[in-house]
Amino acid sequence: MASRFGGALLLLLAMAATWLAAGGGPVFNVTDFGATDDSRAFLRAWMKACATPRRPAVVVPGGGSNYLLHPLVFRGPCRGYMEVRVAGWVHFSNVDGLLVTGGGTFDGRGATAWPLNDCPKRRDCKLLPTSIKLGRVRNATITDVTSVDSKFFHVTVAGSRGVRIRAPRDSPNTDGVHIQGSSDVRVTDSAVATGDDCVSVGPGTSDVVVSGVTCGPGHGISVGSLGRYPGEEDVRRLRVANCTIAGTANGVRIKTWRGGSRPTAVAGLIFEDIVMVKVRNPIIIDQEYCPYASCRRESEQRPSAVRISDVKFRNIRGVSATQVAVKLSCSEASPCRGLELRDIDLRYVRRGVATQSECAHVAGGVVGGTLVPPSCI
Ligand SMILES: *[C@@H]1O[C@H](CO)[C@@H](O)[C@H](O)[C@H]1NC(C)=O
Ligand SMILES: *[C@@H]1O[C@H](CO)[C@@H](O)[C@H](O)[C@H]1NC(C)=O
Ligand SMILES: *[C@@H]1O[C@H](CO)[C@@H](O)[C@H](O)[C@H]1NC(C)=O
Repeated sequence: MASRFGGALLLLLAMAATWLAAGGGPVFNVTDFGATDDSRAFLRAWMKACATPRRPAVVVPGGGSNYLLHPLVFRGPCRGYMEVRVAGWVHFSNVDGLLVTGGGTFDGRGATAWPLNDCPKRRDCKLLPTSIKLGRVRNATITDVTSVDSKFFHVTVAGSRGVRIRAPRDSPNTDGVHIQGSSDVRVTDSAVATGDDCVSVGPGTSDVVVSGVTCGPGHGISVGSLGRYPGEEDVRRLRVANCTIAGTANGVRIKTWRGGSRPTAVAGLIFEDIVMVKVRNPIIIDQEYCPYASCRRESEQRPSAVRISDVKFRNIRGVSATQVAVKLSCSEASPCRGLELRDIDLRYVRRGVATQSECAHVAGGVVGGTLVPPSCI
């Protein structure tokens, strides 16, 4: 796919001391655009570079400098490649061809804001910024960056296509990748520690690969929640492989709200080669997701309309922190179809006590290989 604007945009983010301008194009050093207000300097450097062909680089000098950025949107389309280094949070919108890399750290300074984030329990709750947000971005790579103390999600990918996220395994607190309304997205070789889902896949998403991710603490790797808002599109073709999930509330999970009328489909999912370390719900489909009293009242009688089919769990091993290691709680209105459990070996953390599986509204499927706990399909 050729860029419409005669060049991709390369964004290089780094706090490391050394810098090599990739491609050898013109360099836009943010220090030369006014260092007193970091945000304005960044934007001015960006805008100038954005209008420049021949692989421009936006340069933020390293050597331990910190940059405090207000919410900042780097808007394309641009004419060429670009490179930037930042801390704080940035949103990229409408960019075709983007690389965010260079060993930098996004520090969202989230700790003070976290209590405000408790929506909808708090009436004064605020939608807080995501540290790195890609909206309507095509052909993007985020690699070798660290995100700590994000106010909200660490990385959000929305309305985008062709996104690769790869972080070093040892980055502390790299966290919370949320993907929705996007296709062809890969999240690989990342360490995610968070208070919520390590990776979550929302509506309208297809062709996603999550592999080599180490997750924990947090809520695990989730599809959903789905079925809460009208107009949600399907989730199709997700592969989660070669992951280790440790000390989390859930391992691999599909969650849909009760109620809803749109029969959104969740289909073609594979979870394989996953190690669980003391996870409370290692394998869980929860179609009665309803964490608030309000949803309990309004949709008590209505089962989820979301249709789950063709979901494979293969070679998932390790230790469950609860006895029910496999819970497949599907919707009365649209039972799960085409589930597969193969080579599942999940032992209870207390030796000598067996794990169990629970099924509700599972309309059949296939099982094979080792099955601990015994299958309920
Ligand atoms: C994606 O961007 C890279 C440069 O970052 C470029 O080499 C490649 O051709 C682009 N791929 C597509 C499919 O546009
Ligand atoms: C950016 O500009 C500052 C101030 O002129 C300079 O000290 C620094 O070395 C420059 N950095 C790069 C990577 O060009
Ligand atoms: C998982 O790891 C195996 C062995 O290293 C590899 O063959 C496979 O492609 C990986 N899967 C994914 C989805 O990356």
